[in-house]
Amino acid sequence: MKLDRIFIFFILLLLGILFYWVCYLGYNQESYRKQQTQTTDPSIVKNILMSEEKHKNLGLQSSPGFLYSQPSLLVGSRTDVVSVTPWLAPIVWEGTFDSSLIDSMYKKKNITIATTVFALGKYTRFLKEFLESAEQHYFVGYRVRYYLFTDRPEEVPEIKLGEEHYLTILKVPSMDRWQDISMGRMEILEKLTKSELASEADYIFCLDVDAKFYGPWGVETLGRLVAVIHPWFYGYPRDQFTYERRPESQAFIPAGEGDYYYTAAAFGGTFKEVHELTKYCREQQSIDASKATEAIWHDESHLNKYLLYNKPSKLLSPEYLWRDISMRTSQVKVIRLSHVAKNNEEVRQNA
Ligand SMILES: *[C@@H]1O[C@H](CO)[C@@H](O)[C@H](O)[C@H]1NC(C)=O
Repeated sequence: MKLDRIFIFFILLLLGILFYWVCYLGYNQESYRKQQTQTTDPSIVKNILMSEEKHKNLGLQSSPGFLYSQPSLLVGSRTDVVSVTPWLAPIVWEGTFDSSLIDSMYKKKNITIATTVFALGKYTRFLKEFLESAEQHYFVGYRVRYYLFTDRPEEVPEIKLGEEHYLTILKVPSMDRWQDISMGRMEILEKLTKSELASEADYIFCLDVDAKFYGPWGVETLGRLVAVIHPWFYGYPRDQFTYERRPESQAFIPAGEGDYYYTAAAFGGTFKEVHELTKYCREQQSIDASKATEAIWHDESHLNKYLLYNKPSKLLSPEYLWRDISMRTSQVKVIRLSHVAKNNEEVRQNA
């Protein structure tokens, strides 16, 4: 008799819990629906759609009536160079893209390109030519935010910037060895690409300052992870690349491996990808440092190792960072950015 009562009590308790649970779920769904329908204001919906479109990178749209040369499947405009990697990433050369078509599509996307430059010590002398030439050729007509890191803000020249081009000067401590500057920048870039600045731009390029623009550098260069082929080694067999060959360094690449030799003087992509790359380089450098080791070409050695195993989605030909404007080769039809001839002895403090 007593057992029966206890049994009934438990059944009632269970029913109670079930009832409560069903009501609770129903309420939650109701409030969820309310949340969903709260954003029917057309301007807000439009903004959400626009930012989604921008960030998901939903395709490139061309306009009806916009005319351009017919693309051919049978005749390539470049037969003297290869314009795709074995993992199907494009390699950008003059003649492989239609800049008016690409421009017409990216113009609709309201994008911002962040660009970092480091000018420490005597390297501030390169700023004037770098920035002035960039203003003539680099993402003209698009929003560009330069982030200039320097230990000598007072030496940054006054440059007239084009419409929607902005310059932010960020002071960093002086460093003596150019190798430390080159490696220390990975840590700074790692932080920058994680900071709130990341929300202000869609893509980022990290460029060396001792260079000058001579030709257009535009939206054809944009991609998830973009690497630039080093201007000295593009015809070399992989075993002659200046990879790190000592197993004691984290940058070690064994013989027989390698795709292309990439320069550390120019690289880019989305903030997420550049963050991963710079974080990797900073981490590997500090492991090396703890073993009193330094990779043969410093951050460039680590960058090459990263890009060997994390394939870039787009490669830029040596047009995008040439050796010296006075040197010519038949494959490079347009020099877009070139190192400026410099006396290393004079600008590198410890050379
Ligand atoms: C374009 O982007 C800028 C900066 O991200 C923003 O302030 C502006 O409102 C955007 N314009 C349009 C039409 O979405």
